[in-house]
Amino acid sequence: MRQIAERADVSIGTVSHVINGTAVVRARLRERVLEAIRSLGYQPSALARGLRRNRTNILGMVIPDITNPFFPSVVRGVEDMAYKRSFRVILCNADNDPSKEASYVQELRSYHIAGLLIIPSVGVDIASHLEAYTSAAIPVVCIDRVPEGWEGDAVLVANVDGAYQATRHLIQMGHERLAVITGPLKLTNASDRLKGFTRALNEASLSVEPEFVQEAQFDTPSGYQAALRLLKMLPRPTAIFAGNDLIAFGVLQAARELGLRCPADVSIAGFDSLEFTKFTDPSLTSVYQPGYQLGATAARVLLQRIDGMKSAPKKILLETELNRRNSVGPPPPAGTPKSDERKLQVRAHMDRKRSPPVEGS
Ligand code: RIB
Repeated sequence: MRQIAERADVSIGTVSHVINGTAVVRARLRERVLEAIRSLGYQPSALARGLRRNRTNILGMVIPDITNPFFPSVVRGVEDMAYKRSFRVILCNADNDPSKEASYVQELRSYHIAGLLIIPSVGVDIASHLEAYTSAAIPVVCIDRVPEGWEGDAVLVANVDGAYQATRHLIQMGHERLAVITGPLKLTNASDRLKGFTRALNEASLSVEPEFVQEAQFDTPSGYQAALRLLKMLPRPTAIFAGNDLIAFGVLQAARELGLRCPADVSIAGFDSLEFTKFTDPSLTSVYQPGYQLGATAARVLLQRIDGMKSAPKKILLETELNRRNSVGPPPPAGTPKSDERKLQVRAHMDRKRSPPVEGS
């Protein structure tokens, strides 16, 4: 700062006011300071400034899986909102690994972040780390899921209702043997989607067959394995509700390998309605959830907390919407005669020759 002050022929205090915006500086002096900064190539340290104020303009964000195409839309919403307020985002990918998640959450505090946004990948374990933030008066907002017992701010979607709408649509198409492949049931969004599925079946007086409820990860390989188990059962389900689109892709692949046509032999519905589900073959019926809005809303709440908003914790639920596409149709005619089973085996054999199994399966 001294160098800048000497070059601009002003006091160090004036330089500091220009850089930190702590007082109004006359336009002529301000211009001299900015010119000196430019000619000396000075880059103020945001971290050093943050240390002095004990808070930076940095938000921490922890997400479970950067390879899942749903999460970048959430991050984008956060980033847009933060950028408008001159905040920057440090993004950490926990890889669905509880210890990696916990170490990121702990470490982010050493960057003196102004607040934390997290899509937790584990149920219970992370809660105590988040409480440490709350006790240090660093605001935290959970997005998409909450750890068990979380009572702070959260921005979620209407998971129960979304799953209910998708399942009801399958039932209205005439399906009576419905199966579900859930995400990890320790996650609140996965268990809420199962509740929505169950509610729709109960309402239609259809029973939830325990073997027709399969738990997977929120990914394609485990969705594929769960679908193989379901589709090899006889009688097999005629419709499968998948806990997210990645699981649904695994179901499509398993059906294809077994020679089953979608939707003629099995209908499939997903959750997320990722942009490219319009282009799969068949296009995927799926519950749209507003990823960008989730992120932008959570960032807005966090920034309000950073600005000092003291109201009771907010739980904001965003609406979902069922996108009806071509992967759902009426069920096949009741009973599959033995001759049809043979046709399926032949079809599966031909399909296997055409497309190799999914990676990791
Ligand atoms: O795709 C991953 C799933 O987990 C999404 O449905 C989203 O809700 C996330 O939590």
